[in-house]
Amino acid sequence: MAGFRTIEGMDFAGKRVLLRADLNVPVQDGKVTDATRIERVVPTIRQIIKTGGKAVLISHFGRPKGKVDKSYSLEMVVPAIVEATGHPVGFIDTDWMNMQAPGEAIDDAPDGSILVLENTRFHPGEEENDPALVERMASLGDIFVNDAFSAAHRAHASTEGLAHKLPSAAGLAMQAELEALAAGLGAPKKPVIAIVGGAKVSTKIDLLQNLVTKVEALVIGGAMANTFLLAEGIGIGKSLAEKDMGDTVNAILAKAEKANCAIIVPIDGVVAWHFAENAPHQTYGLDAMDKDGMILDVGGQSIDRIKAAIDEAATLVWNGPLGAFETKPFDAGTTEVARHVAARTKAGKLVSVAGGGDTVSALANAGVKDDFTYVSTAGGAFLEWMEGKELPGVKALEA
Ligand code: 3PG
Ligand code: MG
Repeated sequence: MAGFRTIEGMDFAGKRVLLRADLNVPVQDGKVTDATRIERVVPTIRQIIKTGGKAVLISHFGRPKGKVDKSYSLEMVVPAIVEATGHPVGFIDTDWMNMQAPGEAIDDAPDGSILVLENTRFHPGEEENDPALVERMASLGDIFVNDAFSAAHRAHASTEGLAHKLPSAAGLAMQAELEALAAGLGAPKKPVIAIVGGAKVSTKIDLLQNLVTKVEALVIGGAMANTFLLAEGIGIGKSLAEKDMGDTVNAILAKAEKANCAIIVPIDGVVAWHFAENAPHQTYGLDAMDKDGMILDVGGQSIDRIKAAIDEAATLVWNGPLGAFETKPFDAGTTEVARHVAARTKAGKLVSVAGGGDTVSALANAGVKDDFTYVSTAGGAFLEWMEGKELPGVKALEA
């Protein structure tokens, strides 16, 4: 993309700033269990209120399917915003039909206030990007700032429509994210290595097809590596794999070869005979796999090979764990590689960008979440970016 509008030089004094955040955070028993997405928007909130604007946060939360359903109320998230900002936060209830009461509540709040509006997905017009809803939303603000990269793959009223209706710009979190992503795949320092893991090839076909044309080396891990091995005729015992993906894998391999992208699949695996925490396990070379076992993690030789490939790269992009990292000790491969990436990054040798829900948990599990150049909190949006797709919420902010 050409470049995008930022909040630099925007005058917020006395203005109602509709700030699209991604408050779609994990909640358990009514409490936010991971406030990372909230913490990321705090700098933009501070900037708005410090310069005399009103920060009016708008977001979806869960998938209430266009109906008012208080089990998806954003009111639950308010205490976590208070905690992250150290500032009082007002909550404004609305079903997004009649904007008079919400409008008055916003007008009555003093400059420098932080307010949160109810879940945008309580109205079906949000996901339909309905111009009538966009109009009503726009009546509540003077400026639109989008700080929700993780929702930017949705062309919804609050992510896309509003950007055309009000003076609009990327917030500081969105800006940091777009700059990091540009350094990852947009105009990266070469050579670039990508690590893609996770369960299924079938959900990542577009991503793999795109990556092989953009990177010099592609590491395949997780259960999707089993599908690659199977397609090459390698015995994988009882390992999880997609048996009908052989043609797809071969097409990806052919495309990679044409583009001079090295595909790195595991050469050994940590095998167990049942899937449970601390299940008995043993490492096998893939030329001698046990036919009753299942591969749950990459083995030591594979790890060494991946680390050596990383040492040759200047940029790394990572999505998806290398093994069944949620069940110990099958997190070991992911953890060792993640720590290696962190060390290379700290040493100034590598630009490292990672994203996706599981990936962030795996990096947190490895204790290196803050040691990559950038870790995206986006799930679907990060994948679509890796697929090379244009994200509507970003496109709407183009300069
Ligand atoms: C996410 O959690 O990935 C974003 O908030 C988008 O949510 P959605 O997948 O429900 O649109
Ligand atoms: Mg999601």
